[in-house]
Amino acid sequence: MNRRKLLKIVGSASVIVAAGGVGFVMTRTPTDALMPWETAGSSYSDPIRRALSYAILAPNPHNRQPWIVDLKSDTEAVLTCDLDRLLPVTDPFSRQIVIGLGCFLELLSIAAADQGYRADIRYFPDGEPGDALDRRPIAHLSLKKQEGLAGDPLFSQALRRHTNREPYDTSRVVGDDVLLRLRNTATDKVRVGTANGGTQLNDLRALTKDAMLTEVATPDAYRESIDLMRIGRAEIETNPDGIALGGAFLETLNLTGILTRESLADSTSRSYQIGLDMIDEGAMTSMGFVWINTMGNDRTAQIEAGRAYMRIALQVAADDLAMQPMSQALQEYAAMAPYYKTIHEGLTDQSGERVQMLARLGYAKDVGPAPRWPLETRVKES
Ligand SMILES: Cc1cc2nc3c(=O)[nH]c(=O)nc-3n(C[C@H](O)[C@H](O)[C@H](O)COP(=O)(O)O)c2cc1C
Repeated sequence: MNRRKLLKIVGSASVIVAAGGVGFVMTRTPTDALMPWETAGSSYSDPIRRALSYAILAPNPHNRQPWIVDLKSDTEAVLTCDLDRLLPVTDPFSRQIVIGLGCFLELLSIAAADQGYRADIRYFPDGEPGDALDRRPIAHLSLKKQEGLAGDPLFSQALRRHTNREPYDTSRVVGDDVLLRLRNTATDKVRVGTANGGTQLNDLRALTKDAMLTEVATPDAYRESIDLMRIGRAEIETNPDGIALGGAFLETLNLTGILTRESLADSTSRSYQIGLDMIDEGAMTSMGFVWINTMGNDRTAQIEAGRAYMRIALQVAADDLAMQPMSQALQEYAAMAPYYKTIHEGLTDQSGERVQMLARLGYAKDVGPAPRWPLETRVKES
């Protein structure tokens, strides 16, 4: 939430005092929900759990964390998708869910390499699902110790990478050298494009803004997000996934009735209006964009897009840059059709090429980590 704008409306001091004062402020961090960021790596002795403890920190749509891992041994596992964690309205074919699983696999592979293990990953060992995901495995994972295996320098960014939804600094250009590094980071299975100026930047700012505003104005789609909002510490600790609206300030607004799920859904409310302003500010301060395309759109292409996005996100962190996916225009529901068409006309070269990810870039203040379910809740042993 945009602190500055809300402050103008409510005046922070009086509201915080009303809600219990400084003691309250100090206790609002959802410590348990953030614990997986503390325990990654060192808390696990066997190679597969150690690598998985990083993989669960991968970016994924609406932070649904749709991964279930069936552990077969200390070096072997099977990844499936939790079909209760899909986004049926905004991601009707679970394309983005699969991209998130691709991010997971890439981070797993980078983390395994850091311990000297090569991750052999076999996608869809029992066949690729079609338009609807099913219970068949997403991937079979096998870690093999390999002498002299070079670690990936991007691993050092695993705990620093976060999605940054702040407004970006419009006085700082994203340099061509930075964009080149992002393009070079991605795997050769995808085509990566970038923009940092001219009409293309302005067009993408406007298009991503309009697509997001359209999502908010589409009741089913917006409801899907609202239902996944976790407002305040207690909700975040109970469900460390979805869209976390945490911190003393937002929680105080919640306690005083200004920021609630109901007010966010009510187009006449102040918090709804502020939400619209924030969409405008976020999109229009984008100082660059990066997009990831695949030829075709089968499930393997989606996994590869996710792997590429993971690498780009780590390189973004290494460059102290900020990034936020702006996925609405790529989504496959009716209200997005005009944006989808424009984006594909503008960002693809060949018929059959598919834009899988589009994200804004810029410089911004750091943001903290997003909640995660502990690894233990995502694995089973068989
Ligand atoms: C396929 C995909 C689509 C996403 N789309 C959006 C988006 O449209 N807007 C956004 O703010 N974040 C988007 N995200 C980022 C997720 O919301 C984010 O990864 C998740 O909340 C966890 O937070 P973290 O990345 O800071 O760990 C997307 C991530 C993925 C992998």
